Amino acid sequence: MYKAAITGTGVFTPEQIITNDDLVVAFNAYADKWNAAHADDIAAGSATAMAHSSADFIVAASGIEQRFVMDREGVLDPDRMFPRLRNRSDDEPSIMAEMGVDAANKALAQAGLKAADIDALFCAASNHERAYPAIAVEIQDLLGSNGFAFDLNVACSSATFGIQTAVDMIRAGSIRRALVVNPEICSAHLEWRDRDCHFIFGDVATAVVIERDEGLSGDHFKVLSTRLATKFSNNIRNNNGFLRRTHDAMDDRRDMQFMQEGRKVFKEVLPMVSKHILDHLADDGIDPASLKRLWLHQANKTMNDYIGKKVLGRDPEPGEQPNILQDYANTSSAGSIIAFSKHSGGMSRGDQGLICSFGAGYSVGSVVVERS
Ligand code: COA
Repeated sequence: MYKAAITGTGVFTPEQIITNDDLVVAFNAYADKWNAAHADDIAAGSATAMAHSSADFIVAASGIEQRFVMDREGVLDPDRMFPRLRNRSDDEPSIMAEMGVDAANKALAQAGLKAADIDALFCAASNHERAYPAIAVEIQDLLGSNGFAFDLNVACSSATFGIQTAVDMIRAGSIRRALVVNPEICSAHLEWRDRDCHFIFGDVATAVVIERDEGLSGDHFKVLSTRLATKFSNNIRNNNGFLRRTHDAMDDRRDMQFMQEGRKVFKEVLPMVSKHILDHLADDGIDPASLKRLWLHQANKTMNDYIGKKVLGRDPEPGEQPNILQDYANTSSAGSIIAFSKHSGGMSRGDQGLICSFGAGYSVGSVVVERS
């Protein structure tokens, strides 16, 4: 059996930013308009007035300060509250493919590889722009990589599930090098008109190059082991899908966008993830306290602080458990990979760390790596 190593990562960051203040101004304008339009129903008690959002609440509840998006104008227009992304013709690259290609080229450059060196490409993300052909196959074509490509979706855990898929194929010898690409346009599955969640998500794309660990000369991370788990839950759900047009009048149904029972997610996912990581490390004979870095899924700062403390057995030192959600918000599957890509410097040869993502499904995936 062969071994696998991560030799490159890349992040595509959209140019447009929405701060919490921008977001709250737009939301409150929308709420005021809605309340004015429904004033009679509100007065009669048959409708409830929409409350204002608050930037202070957002930072306190989540740690998020801003988010990058593919289209700011549509999201901040109180008459729209949704990104405006032009439908592209079939002759143009799709948006996810374009974002993925940018991240993939950065990851290839870091690995010192050309696209033609890649044997397999996985587009692992929470939502895919169309049913088929797979976005992965389009990215393969745009890049000029070889072999085969396919899409996979395990919501916020898609990146680690993609990494294990690639690592297992490399171990088995069926491929030598893979790209796992995570383009996430979360702004288009977020309900920006819902105060409870309008601040949660941002857009980004990440990519990871994984190679057979044989004759590697540059800096890399050996993949020591991977572990995945799922357990069905309705607490994070999006019912949008190809059957929606078989029903009448579904366009405004709230369940056609991201929905969550945030408090339940908090309570149920934290123990699941902490136990998953600790079991994974125990089976590998790794003392959790010896880990030099935790690159966690980026949904909520309090959640990450809790998991870091539970895993390391103490409060993580600054830099041991880097957060990027203050800048990017929750970027679904890409969050832990942004943290890994931007905060893996300063580790010495032999230092070990853990990438972990978790989310809808429920799902959780962990990857133990060693600096080399
Ligand atoms: N501005 C001001 N107040 C708000 C608000 C906003 N934008 N959104 C909610 N509130 C209010 C609520 O109405 C509630 O008021 P009440 O106490 O009078 O009922 C109060 O603030 C607390 O709301 P709650 O939803 O319980 O907040 P929370 O502390 O649980 O934080 C989340 C909300 C979503 C940030 C948090 O539950 C969370 O992060 N959960 C896990 C999310 C997650 O990981 N999801 C995975 C997605 S991949």
